[in-house]
Amino acid sequence: MARVALVTGGMGGLGEAVCIKLAALGYQVVTTYSPGNTKSEAWLAEMEKLGYNFRAYSCDVADYDSAAACVAKVSAEIGPIDVLVNNAGITRDMTFKKMDKLNWDAVIGTNLDSVFNMTKPVCDGMVDRGWGRIINISSVNGQKGAFGQTNYSAAKAGMHGFTKALALEVARKGVTVNTISPGYIGTKMVMAIPQEVLDSKIIPQIPMARLGKPEEVAGLVAYLSSDEAAFLTGANIAINGGQHMS
Ligand code: CAA
Ligand code: NAP
Repeated sequence: MARVALVTGGMGGLGEAVCIKLAALGYQVVTTYSPGNTKSEAWLAEMEKLGYNFRAYSCDVADYDSAAACVAKVSAEIGPIDVLVNNAGITRDMTFKKMDKLNWDAVIGTNLDSVFNMTKPVCDGMVDRGWGRIINISSVNGQKGAFGQTNYSAAKAGMHGFTKALALEVARKGVTVNTISPGYIGTKMVMAIPQEVLDSKIIPQIPMARLGKPEEVAGLVAYLSSDEAAFLTGANIAINGGQHMS
């Protein structure tokens, strides 16, 4: 039977590429969309035209009960989750001087609390079945910090702390937990950066002098999801065109 992969935020730029890659490899792919998303039906129809039979569930990943209800529904209707990709995320960029509690909480909730909310109802089942893959999509800006992103850098750095601690706890149970830290990838999240800032401050910092492609990150997710990656856990894998080397 096909393994079930749950990708949060699969209708976004990076998530869509991950869904497509995992589906092409034979996973039964399930994704989530925000309760306010009015384009989910259109996205599913567009994907169907391309030959992908995705299932999608409404879920606010920042909300504990919503995440638990979503996982319960997926497990009942599709099957137990073998691969969890914690991909949903947002930015609310502003200098710390302008940062208010609302924009701090929104980013911590969607990027970091979400990892707890989604992993909590999934992890015990993986351990019981002796196989699982948890992949947390962090960011280069969690590794190095970024101007205007005290909230986002904190959340993304926190994700990897979570990865390392949980990886220790489930290492002997066939479950791996890893972080991927992409650099700047050409999705709508990056296109929201003022063009002048992108051209003058960001692209010049990337030795490859270009944005990454969602498919390049999806290939890494596919590897971490595979049986071949069984010995790889607790890692933070950078994929950033050379922007930050650690
Ligand atoms: N480095 C150094 N200085 C910077 C800077 C940077 N990256 N960006 C802005 N500044 C400076 C400006 O030059 C200006 O300086 P002066 O006052 O001396 O002229 C000052 O900051 C402007 O400060 P303001 O508080 O007025 O801020 P603003 O309203 O102009 O907006 C900002 C600041 C929100 C940070 C805006 O510059 C911005 O959106 N920057 C992009 C932030 C960014 O990289 N976000 C990444 C989003 S993509 C992502 O997050 C995906 C991922 O994981 C990689
Ligand atoms: P994107 O195109 O803006 O997609 C973000 C996705 O997150 C959307 O599908 C969105 O769903 C979902 N989402 C947001 N808030 C949510 C919530 N409360 N509940 C459920 N889903 C929610 O961004 P992206 O570039 O693909 O980013 C995907 C991930 O990669 C994020 O975690 C981001 O931080 C990380 N990342 C991106 C880059 C980059 O350069 N693009 C670099 C490093 C890391 P709806 O549309 O349904 O709201």
